Amino acid sequence: MERITSIRGFRDILPGESEKWQFVEEKAREIFGAYGVREIRIPILEKTDLFRRGIGETTDVVEKEMYTFVDRGEESLTLRPEATASVIRAYIEHNFFETDPVTKLFTIGPMFRRERPQKGRYRQFHQINVEMLGYEDPRIDGELISMLMLFLSELGIEDLDLEINSLGCADCRPVFREEVVRFLDHREESLCPDCRRRLQTNPLRVFDCKVETCGEAVREAPVILDSICAGCRDHFEKVKNLLDTLAVPFRVNPRMVRGLDYYKRTAFEVIGHSLGSQNAVAGGGRYDGLVQELGGPDIPGIGFAIGFERLVSMLPGDETRFSSKPSLYVATLGTAAETFAFRLLHNLRKTGLQAETDYSGKSLKAQMKRAGRSGAPYALIVGENELAEGAVVLRDMGAGAQEKVAISELHAKLKEIFHVR
Ligand code: HAM
Repeated sequence: MERITSIRGFRDILPGESEKWQFVEEKAREIFGAYGVREIRIPILEKTDLFRRGIGETTDVVEKEMYTFVDRGEESLTLRPEATASVIRAYIEHNFFETDPVTKLFTIGPMFRRERPQKGRYRQFHQINVEMLGYEDPRIDGELISMLMLFLSELGIEDLDLEINSLGCADCRPVFREEVVRFLDHREESLCPDCRRRLQTNPLRVFDCKVETCGEAVREAPVILDSICAGCRDHFEKVKNLLDTLAVPFRVNPRMVRGLDYYKRTAFEVIGHSLGSQNAVAGGGRYDGLVQELGGPDIPGIGFAIGFERLVSMLPGDETRFSSKPSLYVATLGTAAETFAFRLLHNLRKTGLQAETDYSGKSLKAQMKRAGRSGAPYALIVGENELAEGAVVLRDMGAGAQEKVAISELHAKLKEIFHVR
């Protein structure tokens, strides 16, 4: 029979790796919890218009990367390419702002973008996403960015660069946009066909183009920091000072534009130097105006998303740091021992002990070989003769030493070794 494989750009997260994901999620819950960031779980499928309006018609994501389909001839739906638009939709839909406009939310889950798959870039990928709504004050920018950096450092991830920029606001960005268009108009021949089109629709996207000639064309281009308004400048200066106050190192990258259209003022990315060409492990920024754009009140917000796959690939430590091995391997000899062990395993697991056994019916020698391979530090051998005496044999696999333990003493003995309940 022909094998059915997974789809290109969609990957399985196997045991061995999934433990790392759990470790990261636990850390996220712990650290975000200290900042009052609460979890929201949102659907994966949304109405296409949410992303068209939220992310911007002329972004790469909306123009060519969304998985969109018409649901049985009724309405156009899209597998979410990012979470911010969905979180804001939920924030508006459930009137969060009526009780308190200040709301801090996180969500973890899969996103879908039909990009060209390569190392660190998938069509289904996962994000850890945080949004903080309700404050225009730069201190929330400082809080959010420093929380992100604390989280990454608590995971032991090093060799990171935090890059920040200001993307201006509705007042000053159009002026800059005109400047860029004027500058690039003379250099149109050196731009790729996509960027020639972008020149009309979304000229700032040229800054992000990976084509070499486009990169050269923008090298001398004006930078937005030279034309932001006094309000944006003041905000940016304060954010930088706040990061300094918390001793969070950063670098100003005046050419960073971000790939989604909703950003205003503060924008940032975290670059992981070990990641290769897809080197942004996280990105985010302020999106004042987005809540209103999506039909809610005028409430500002800022957030970020971490690429889960990229984050996991940067975790230090070998497999043993995350692997889950059984603590105890139970081997049996004879039918009575099998029956006894079946009940014993149930009771051991009830105490929280990770206990494993073998139902293959193979010899004790084969079972012990498997016990060794499992990595369990201890094995419990239930033999017919010992059982008749009311005892079992406990073997220290590392030391190769074993002792007879009375069944009545077994729980106390295991408690002593494994600190179980
Ligand atoms: P983004 O920069 O598009 O921002 O994505 C954030 C992160 O998701 C990236 O830095 C990268 O680590 C990861 N990522 C993106 N695309 C892929 C892919 N195809 N394969 C693997 N990883 C990927 C956003 O999505 C914004 N919603 C972030 C945000 C939240 N801004 C404000 N709030």
